[in-house]
Amino acid sequence: MTWTDRFFAWRDRVVASPTFQRWAAAFPLTRPIARRQASQLFDLVAGFVYSQVLLACVRLRVFEILAEGPQSVTTLAHRLDLSENSAQRLLAAASSLGLLAQRSDGRFALGQLGAVMVGNRAVAAMVEHHASVYMDLADPVALLRRDSPTRLSDYWAYAGDEGSERARSLRAEQVADYSALMSASQPLVADQIIDAYPLGRHRCLLDVGGGEGTFLSHVARRVPGLQLKLFDLPAVAERGRLRFEAQGIAHRASAHGGSFFDDPLPVGADIVSLVRVIYDHDDEHALKILRAVRAALPDGGTLILAEPMAGTPGAEAMGDAYFGFYLLAMGKGEARTPAQLSALLSLAGFGSVRVLPTHLPLQTRVIVARPLAVNTASHEAQP
Ligand SMILES: C[S@@+](CC[C@H](N)C(=O)[O-])C[C@H]1O[C@@H](n2cnc3c(N)ncnc32)[C@H](O)[C@@H]1O
Repeated sequence: MTWTDRFFAWRDRVVASPTFQRWAAAFPLTRPIARRQASQLFDLVAGFVYSQVLLACVRLRVFEILAEGPQSVTTLAHRLDLSENSAQRLLAAASSLGLLAQRSDGRFALGQLGAVMVGNRAVAAMVEHHASVYMDLADPVALLRRDSPTRLSDYWAYAGDEGSERARSLRAEQVADYSALMSASQPLVADQIIDAYPLGRHRCLLDVGGGEGTFLSHVARRVPGLQLKLFDLPAVAERGRLRFEAQGIAHRASAHGGSFFDDPLPVGADIVSLVRVIYDHDDEHALKILRAVRAALPDGGTLILAEPMAGTPGAEAMGDAYFGFYLLAMGKGEARTPAQLSALLSLAGFGSVRVLPTHLPLQTRVIVARPLAVNTASHEAQP
């Protein structure tokens, strides 16, 4: 045991002692610390309850109803089809969480967080999705021991195993739900990426693992003139093709189906994006994807890699706790720090790695990298 170990062992013994806890809560100088820690611990215990309050508000469309203006409990009880007691309980709970606010005349209105939720399909879809995430997390020890199959590994149909054949042959109905969720949550990330990196200086963008093309649709609106290519599993790329047609951008946006583990990526783009793709995979498979991207890019090309990252200052729990357990339930993948991603990028033949600032790093961080040298062999293998 080192001196540091001994010191922390002593500190932990002191902090665990009920006599110390009573003293620390009463003594004026330690009281604020004791209260803050008690409150942090309570929030960890109560977190699931808070999530369920939010879920009830989303399912009952409380935010949309209150967007019309403040309303009394009686009116809301009627509109939510709840008894007055239940409505009061939900409205008080949501107010205490900052989702709603109670006016001095007793009526309820939107709170600051609730105002953000109005018409916010991205967050509402995520809240609804987490109802099944929490079922997988109900027994976290079993999950850690991988004792039971999970809902999430079924939901993310490509996550079951990395076999290309299986993933390539996924049917439309197996990819529909996760593709729709990714599409619904794109507004949380697309503009941040486009704001972080000036795409306008490029000629053609290839979005690898681009889902049903929602990111590219955003790009099409914001960056006129840029040619767009989408690559994803065949059943997902088909959804992209239909979206491009429906939005009247098929003349500048094409969709290509295949697996990035075996099939060559389309060539011709001078910039490739990987949005929320790499964190789905272990290092070995992440490296395969990055090498495929390297082979598809010309020297002088650019890669932008955008996803939530571990070690994000002020949001450490998002990477290690949230994504750590979410991806465990999904069956594979990990959130990586920018340094871990840089190491993978350099193994795959990329250099000049830069982390670009984004408005909300909790949701998206962006790394830009450039191919290091000509990779003649892989370019010759391109179609
Ligand atoms: C988490 S989603 C991200 C989708 C999109 N980039 C976004 O941010 O909305 C990961 C995407 O990778 C695709 N994917 C998974 N395995 C793949 C494979 N072997 N080849 C090509 N795409 C794959 C999935 O179909 C899915 O669309």
